[in-house]
Amino acid sequence: MSASIGTDVAHAAALLQRGSVVAIPTETVYGLAANAFDPEAVLRIFTTKQRPSFDPLIVHIGRPADVHSVVRELPPGAEQLMGAFWPGPLTLVLPKRPEVPDIVTSGLDTVGVRMPAHPLALDLLKRLDFPLAAPSANPFGYVSPTTAQHVADQLGEAIPYILDGGACAVGVESTIIGWDGTCWVLYRPGGVPVEAIEAVIGRVQAAVKQVVPAAPGMLESHYAPLKAVLVGDVAELLPMFEDKRVGVIGFQRAYAVHRNEVLAPSGNIEEATRNLFAALRALDASDVDVILAERFPDEGLGRAINDRLRRAAAKR
Ligand code: TXA
Ligand code: MG
Repeated sequence: MSASIGTDVAHAAALLQRGSVVAIPTETVYGLAANAFDPEAVLRIFTTKQRPSFDPLIVHIGRPADVHSVVRELPPGAEQLMGAFWPGPLTLVLPKRPEVPDIVTSGLDTVGVRMPAHPLALDLLKRLDFPLAAPSANPFGYVSPTTAQHVADQLGEAIPYILDGGACAVGVESTIIGWDGTCWVLYRPGGVPVEAIEAVIGRVQAAVKQVVPAAPGMLESHYAPLKAVLVGDVAELLPMFEDKRVGVIGFQRAYAVHRNEVLAPSGNIEEATRNLFAALRALDASDVDVILAERFPDEGLGRAINDRLRRAAAKR
């Protein structure tokens, strides 16, 4: 099999109705989608990505009201969050309905759900009478794809169709928060800044690290290129690599090194976020020996960038 790439939403819908997987664009990253109510279709996601079964999937819906098809009850604040951030890059982990297959949630009694903001994804979801389970469309552990070509490069031989929605507008995965019975907990920083969430529902707790991660997005090594990545003050790190070909991921400025990926010369953090994963892929595919990355201001989207860079740098 070799994936065709196109913009035919009806074709994507027909494949999904037949139980196939299809790569779909979202505003965050590309997803590998299947019918969330069909355990056999969902199993194809896991085998295609070589994803371990303990890592639950996010369920994507086309209308806010569809949340009730997968969620048992909405905790305090959920409706305000949906109103403020859907469609958009916020995933809510909520008590699941029994109809959601265990394979989607890895047997947990909660389900992660979000309404994506990409027009093609919404068009597709509205044509279907089931929600779509979809993790990012990359081999497990690797950097998430932000273009159709990124998906084709790694999973092209394993899937029939990639719905091409252009480059992702946000560029990092959704923010994931969950209700633990008493308060909202941050599982993964992402496309919606935590500050914006707190402005709607008040304090969001940091997740406590566990041996078995509540959100395997919390696994230390994740979103990782194959090459070594170091994060910090690039000027201070550089002398350690004088005899190496160095690639640098910088926010605004370039360095005197073999290759530079400057994420946003203007200093715009949205632009930097959008370009992050393509930069990691480009340096990973280049002839550099090592990737050095600046640390970003630890606020707003900078927290999501720092989180992904830290995981990219974690030892496997
Ligand atoms: O932006 C995104 O979230 C993208 C697009 C495709 O929507 N999806 C994405 O999926 O990043 P994935 O599978 O790469 O990451 C989803 C994370 C996983 O770490 C998973 O463990 C967590 O969401 N998750 C899903 N359901 C959960 C649950 N019930 N409890 C805790 N974490 C959950
Ligand atoms: Mg992923």
